[in-house]
Amino acid sequence: MPIFVRDNCFVLETPHTHYAFGVADGELQHIHWGEKCPRLDYTVPNYREEVSQHPASEFDKREYVPFGGTNYRECALKCTFSDGCRDTVLQYDSYTLKDDTLTVICKDRHYPLTVKLIYQVQEDSDVLTRSAEIVNTGNSDITLHKAASAQLHLPSRAPYTVLNFNGSWSTEFRKAEEVLTGGSVVFESRRGLTGHCQNPSVVFSQNATEDEGDVFFAALGFSGNFKISAERNFTGLTHAVIGLQDFDFSYTLHAGESFKTPPVYMGYTKGFAAMSHEMHRFAVEHILPVRFKNEPLPVLYNSWEATEFDVNEKDQLRLAKIAASLGCELFVMDDGWFGERKDDHAGLGDWFVNREKFPNGLKPLIDGVRALGMKFGIWVEPEMVSPDSDLYRKHPDWAYHYPTRKGNELRWQLVLNFTRQDVQDYIFTCLDELLTENDISYIKWDMNRPFSETGAENLENPQELWYRHTHALYSVVDRLRAKHPDVQFEACASGGGRVDFGAMHHFDMVWTSDNTDPVDRLVIQNGYSYLYPIKCMRAWVTDMNRTSRPTSLDYRFNVSMQGSLSLGGNLLEYTDEELKTCAKYIALYKELRPLVQFGKLYRLTNGRADRISMTQYVDKNRENSVLFVCTQPTTFFADRFVTIRLKGLCPDAMYRVQSSGEEFTASGGVLMHCGFHAKFTHAFASEIYRIKKLPEAQG
Ligand code: DGJ
Repeated sequence: MPIFVRDNCFVLETPHTHYAFGVADGELQHIHWGEKCPRLDYTVPNYREEVSQHPASEFDKREYVPFGGTNYRECALKCTFSDGCRDTVLQYDSYTLKDDTLTVICKDRHYPLTVKLIYQVQEDSDVLTRSAEIVNTGNSDITLHKAASAQLHLPSRAPYTVLNFNGSWSTEFRKAEEVLTGGSVVFESRRGLTGHCQNPSVVFSQNATEDEGDVFFAALGFSGNFKISAERNFTGLTHAVIGLQDFDFSYTLHAGESFKTPPVYMGYTKGFAAMSHEMHRFAVEHILPVRFKNEPLPVLYNSWEATEFDVNEKDQLRLAKIAASLGCELFVMDDGWFGERKDDHAGLGDWFVNREKFPNGLKPLIDGVRALGMKFGIWVEPEMVSPDSDLYRKHPDWAYHYPTRKGNELRWQLVLNFTRQDVQDYIFTCLDELLTENDISYIKWDMNRPFSETGAENLENPQELWYRHTHALYSVVDRLRAKHPDVQFEACASGGGRVDFGAMHHFDMVWTSDNTDPVDRLVIQNGYSYLYPIKCMRAWVTDMNRTSRPTSLDYRFNVSMQGSLSLGGNLLEYTDEELKTCAKYIALYKELRPLVQFGKLYRLTNGRADRISMTQYVDKNRENSVLFVCTQPTTFFADRFVTIRLKGLCPDAMYRVQSSGEEFTASGGVLMHCGFHAKFTHAFASEIYRIKKLPEAQG
């Protein structure tokens, strides 16, 4: 049983960690998060110290701090009661324990408000899941202004290094680290979607490397506005609040209604590699949609960079023929097949085949693709409408808007008000018909602009739209999945604008970035790999860098094979030699795919800083491993000579190491501790090392 309740204490036990809190003076106080204390002899601290300017509440570690009283820190909950009172006082009431879930119930001392703090533990993982449910048990409305998923308290009073993944469109997942010595730091989105700028995740570390040091991490399962605020106060305590964004948010709880926050996945590990291993495995086993979670993702070809909006049956089939001959398993036609979509100025919302481009509908193309032995996928952007579309002409009120304001048309499009049931039903019907009438196995669901002019006249409280839109998105996707269970779904938002565990609970994979330059991509993939599962990371080999920063196909494949391999270049322009190279790598990837998509990932180098990228994957039994090496542009003589020290192997076992130029055997111990030497004489060199455990007799 991984959850213990004794002496006013609750202890959540995972294979390597404890999370403990308890009741003191009727309040829930955090006790411990980190390494296991085997005797479980935790006691609940009682914080009574105070001076006139610093009340006891500034020294304590309450599990879920409401706004009010003498609380001056970032709160987890803020409400207004029907009489105008904005002060909440939570008192512990009771708990329930069912299988792997502990629910601790707190109630306001005076008002009919119940807060349920929900904790879930899996026996096989160090990742805990937390969320909260706020219930109005009275007869009049309560307005929520803030309802976070969790409050976190870190054990040490020394400053922590705080890591988030920052960026912009086409520059996702740049690691942004700072030491939080005092004050606060906030990571957030106010855009309606997760966005490219900051990620809904945070990592706190002390003296940490890949292999050791304290690492605490948390990631929110939500694809809309979020806020993570971390604060270190004058006592040296660091705590954080993680959950929905409170900017322009409120939610009206009518009598008897409840509000559920999104989940937070959080854990403690020694070193960053263990964090990635835990979170990757947890995501595959407990977050991803069940249908495809254990299946390796297909190698796909996407026609976007080859044809952009200029799609038609003949050209798509020409590309499909080549893609199939290379070994691609899925052909995805991107933007441009519907409505009056000649470019990005028109057509969104009219999810009907453009008969000029496809006079006989999609069937001949899909049949052609299927006859080539591939599955067929298609692009959509359902949350959007082009002002130049039949849908908008008929229903201008279906976009978020204020009648007195002109809407901002980013990319010549507006955001549909998904909180309206009629909008959801229209989109569901269009996509359901598309999937029913055509043999489509894959939907790429795009989202290419943030929200603006967020008027939603249909809602009694329009500030609920930030929360409701994301849930409506999930609901439409879930309805489609229920009716078409064999269709895979990819989440995309102009590249990596929707990489979060909320999306990963409803979609099978994500599009990582529109930037497919392999050198940039190494940085993006490195940042992504800290928390998000490699299986879900779509990685295309394209021609993007052919003119600006030429790299070889070998190099480009090397980078994309480190994720879920896909092709996106204009195959019609490839030479025979290049096509042969593609086929060779696709065949190799199919062999390596279980290892890459389900193995343990080791970052042997630290992205661009090391001028060489080395990423290793090891399977569960430590029998097979693969190492991808890519050099960065450098003219330093010293950078040519590298000692490669592998990780994750059995020290006593013998392994065969094979690369394009050499083959040798060595023990796991030697490979990990002494390493082996390699020489890379030019920039943008790449190599793939395959490492295989030898049978005992040969060892
Ligand atoms: C943005 C996506 O990230 C691209 O891959 C492509 O699908 C375009 N949208 C199409 O408009």
